[in-house]
Amino acid sequence: MSLKHIEQGNFENARVLMRVDFNVEFKNVNEVQEHFRFDIVKKTVDFVLGFPGTKLALLTHFGRPEGKDANFSVKQIVSTVEATLGRRVVFVDDCIGDTVESALENLAPGEVLLLENVRFYEGEEKNDPQFAEKLAEHFTVFVNEAFSVCHREHASIVGVPKLLPSYAGFHILEEVEKLDDAISAPKHPAVAIIGGAKIETKLPLIRMFEEKYDCILVGGKVANEALDQNIAFSEKVLLPQDFDSSLRLDIGPKTISYFIQIIKVAKTIVWNGPMGKFEEKPYDIGTEAILYAILESNAYVIIGGGESLAVLEKAGVMNKIGFVSSGGGAMLEYLSGKKLPGLEALES
Ligand code: 3PG
Repeated sequence: MSLKHIEQGNFENARVLMRVDFNVEFKNVNEVQEHFRFDIVKKTVDFVLGFPGTKLALLTHFGRPEGKDANFSVKQIVSTVEATLGRRVVFVDDCIGDTVESALENLAPGEVLLLENVRFYEGEEKNDPQFAEKLAEHFTVFVNEAFSVCHREHASIVGVPKLLPSYAGFHILEEVEKLDDAISAPKHPAVAIIGGAKIETKLPLIRMFEEKYDCILVGGKVANEALDQNIAFSEKVLLPQDFDSSLRLDIGPKTISYFIQIIKVAKTIVWNGPMGKFEEKPYDIGTEAILYAILESNAYVIIGGGESLAVLEKAGVMNKIGFVSSGGGAMLEYLSGKKLPGLEALES
């Protein structure tokens, strides 16, 4: 897949609309739990604002609101965005209309606009072409730096690129390159570790890895679901041999040590989803043991999925991983071989 590279764009005096994914969790009121989704857009923001006369607005969704709802306002993350980007961020309490136009007019050089939650309008998820026109009308160029929403056929993801010259940001380009390499040219032994919930979404991924990888370790709720549904796998797929208790909320000690032996000799590891109900002690034991085995291994490691990112941030080891994918559902779908509409919209 060849995407329109951001470095092909000329952003001089441009009005740039950049789709980002700041759909983050809060620890406490106004205290953002994960910073990764802010960090990954910085390079693209700095690149665009390196051109003279450029004006930049960031557009994100935040949660799954039904209409306008202050609990889902992007206003809550303004200070975190400012701290991450190291720039003054001006919040605009709408993402379409005159408010956006006048905020752009008044924007000082080097500053960034942060527009209100795009999901406050139903036209976003309905992929309404008229809503896409309203999003695009104040801008001359579109940049997508939101890989993690590229599996959604939403107006800001697929509608706007039909209306404006559009480019893939640096992080999207890196995601695609790293995930492609992990599928097509992994170093062997190659091991996939799949956990979390929803076997129906993880099964295509397990099937893909059965073809391309040497071993697939399955834990978390998906392991329970696979066992309960008697799903048949090849001998490459290893389900847990034991659990923490009859509640099966974590993998057991025998499984942990078996999985660790396999991780130790791996040359490539792709991990998506925790091994148990890690957010609640003591069901984090399996996930932590797997995490530390991965960190000690010599393998090239790719980790993705909202819950897996939370595990990494909690353990403070984000920078020790080969590549961290921002995508949860998007990473799963991409690795499973599905075409992501958001990426197709950026094809050159
Ligand atoms: C995510 O957190 O995976 C993305 O932001 C997509 O969110 P969604 O599942 O609400 O579309």
